[in-house]
Amino acid sequence: MNESSDQTWTVEIKEDDLPLLAEVAIEAMQLIDREDTNAKDLDRLICSDPALAARVLRIANSPLFAGSVPANSVNQAVVRMGMIQLRQIVLLGALDQVFDPRKPHPNAMWNHAICVAVTSQWLADRLGVARPEEAFLGGLLHDVGKLVIYHQISDVYGALIDQAAAEGKRFHQHEDGKILPCTHAPVGAVVGLKWGLAPDLIEVMQFHHEIEGEGDLPIEAEPLVAVVSVANLLTHQLGLGIENPQEMDALASRPGQIIGLDAETIEEAVEVLPALINEQRAAFS
Ligand SMILES: [Fe+2]
Ligand SMILES: [Fe+2]
Repeated sequence: MNESSDQTWTVEIKEDDLPLLAEVAIEAMQLIDREDTNAKDLDRLICSDPALAARVLRIANSPLFAGSVPANSVNQAVVRMGMIQLRQIVLLGALDQVFDPRKPHPNAMWNHAICVAVTSQWLADRLGVARPEEAFLGGLLHDVGKLVIYHQISDVYGALIDQAAAEGKRFHQHEDGKILPCTHAPVGAVVGLKWGLAPDLIEVMQFHHEIEGEGDLPIEAEPLVAVVSVANLLTHQLGLGIENPQEMDALASRPGQIIGLDAETIEEAVEVLPALINEQRAAFS
């Protein structure tokens, strides 16, 4: 791209452009949330989408979730897992399909999603500020808006991503107003609504950058949003993302203060996270 960084484009995001999450996955997550759900119904529903069923089984047997004996069928996985874990697995299986790993930018987005998911889960657990499983999902989903815009205008958005990286700029600041009158964050929130995700997760998608600023925000799940926001900063800071590490200071950040992040936790994160992330990345590749 030869254009200067203040070049603007206009793109309209229509309902039809939103990536589809497998309908079966949405139904399965709704079923999981119901108190009267039984394993048989869930098994039958997931198996009605064989591609999703195969991914659910693969993820259920990955190191992140596997028990001592591998599950040989979706039914076994459903019976053995807790409902919270099943929700994670079904969503992971469905998202796996939405991110197309054959293209470099979506592949980098998927890698980033896994990094932030693992880091969010670790931080939530380490600092006891949010439910670790929910933090994992928030991390996984936080940048889905980027994927939606990328689907619509791959060349331009891909070039914008590369340009921000080459110039060492924060991506959400760089993109703001260039393609849409906003960043990827509100776009993600619209997708989350369409996918029928929990309100806390939609808040993560919408506010994970805005929470870095000073203004008051209408956030109900502030610790969850803050934990994902910090995980995003921290993964870039540790050189595990594509944004400029110099631009990130998780410790001094506002969300860092909200979750009580301290230097000791960061030191521990530096030790623990790279191996943990590599292990999970291998499980989903
Ligand atoms: Fe983001
Ligand atoms: Fe991010």
